[in-house]
Amino acid sequence: MDVLDTAAWETRAVALADALATAGVLSDQAWRAAFAATPRHLFVPRILDGPASLGAGDPGWLDAVYADEALATQTRPAGDGAAGRPIASSSSSKPTVMAVMLERLAAEPGHRVLEIGTGTGYNAALLSHRLGADNVYSLDLDPELVDAASDRLAAAGYNPHLAAGDGFAGWPGEITFDRIIATCAVTAIPPAWIDQLADGGRIVAPLDAGAAGPLLVLDKTADDEVSGRIDPFPVLFMPMRADVASPFGPGQEPSVATSAIPHYGSTAVDPAALLDRPELALFLWLHAPGLRLAGSAAHGVVVAERGPARAEVDVTPVAEGTWVVRQSGPYRLWDTVEHAVAAFDALGEPDAARLGVTALNVPGKQYVWLDDPDRDHCWPLGCSG
Ligand SMILES: C[S@@+](CC[C@H](N)C(=O)[O-])C[C@H]1O[C@@H](n2cnc3c(N)ncnc32)[C@H](O)[C@@H]1O
Repeated sequence: MDVLDTAAWETRAVALADALATAGVLSDQAWRAAFAATPRHLFVPRILDGPASLGAGDPGWLDAVYADEALATQTRPAGDGAAGRPIASSSSSKPTVMAVMLERLAAEPGHRVLEIGTGTGYNAALLSHRLGADNVYSLDLDPELVDAASDRLAAAGYNPHLAAGDGFAGWPGEITFDRIIATCAVTAIPPAWIDQLADGGRIVAPLDAGAAGPLLVLDKTADDEVSGRIDPFPVLFMPMRADVASPFGPGQEPSVATSAIPHYGSTAVDPAALLDRPELALFLWLHAPGLRLAGSAAHGVVVAERGPARAEVDVTPVAEGTWVVRQSGPYRLWDTVEHAVAAFDALGEPDAARLGVTALNVPGKQYVWLDDPDRDHCWPLGCSG
């Protein structure tokens, strides 16, 4: 399968590993060796970039494969809500992000690891290099991706355990893992992952922020519980989805313009000023994972969207300190934004290092806390929608 001159890819793989080490995101020598020895090109025979596409053998393909970039490998139509534009539904993640997540995972030889989101199989190959393929389990919602990854992993000399299925339910069968790594973004920790995590185990998962969001790094703290601090390193992942044909997570389809009359109200939160407060973003996502804020004074309106819930706020106040807000969808999204902003200000603008998450293996019993998991101040992760 590998028709390339070995030196051609090895030079690039070593350069990528060196660049990650120089950038300070890869300090573990064993992971550095894994990046240097793993043929990413086997896993990305075609890169999709908008309407363009770059395939094996095309000029520039090999350099693109070993660049520190996320490479889209599968797209799905977005449907009417996003003007039918295809959206990436699978990719090979940005190597910097992979390196950070693998180091945060702190997997050691002998650990059994579950990866949610096989995608191209490249991360499963890195894990196989480090831990031995027999300790690596990886599953993807899309059976076609799993089949292709299986062939590529075999061509790279690895045969980890692979399965097709919804990662929300964990690995099919009775088994526990020392580490679970999700390479698709979650709005909460699926209870099955907590059940399948061994004592002393760790989960590393990106929080779905709708943009580059934080990582959840959670350790098993009781049979039914994981807990840990928020790691603010910004990572961008596609959402964990339930439908192979859609690029969106459940309930995350963008709102479709409807003739339904929105709820009109007023707000004391200046919408334009909100966009100028990046330090607030994490706090907002922890109240409403997947929240997207867009717009500007020039547009005259700031739009907040989270799946089918939408709010539009005029940037020109109707009265001193009062702005008009129009909300539509299954719940009032701007009310959540207002609540999060008020809490952020009342708590003295806490930075990410003070925040953590505790998740129980019961749906809805997952909390964000400030400073200490046992302190009174906590709120449900993703408290609306
Ligand atoms: C960023 S890609 C994963 C990249 C992959 N780790 C690699 O090295 O190529 C995200 C993957 O998550 C998968 N995915 C999304 N929702 C899923 C779910 N509910 N269960 C399992 N996999 C899921 C997607 O199909 C996609 O392949």
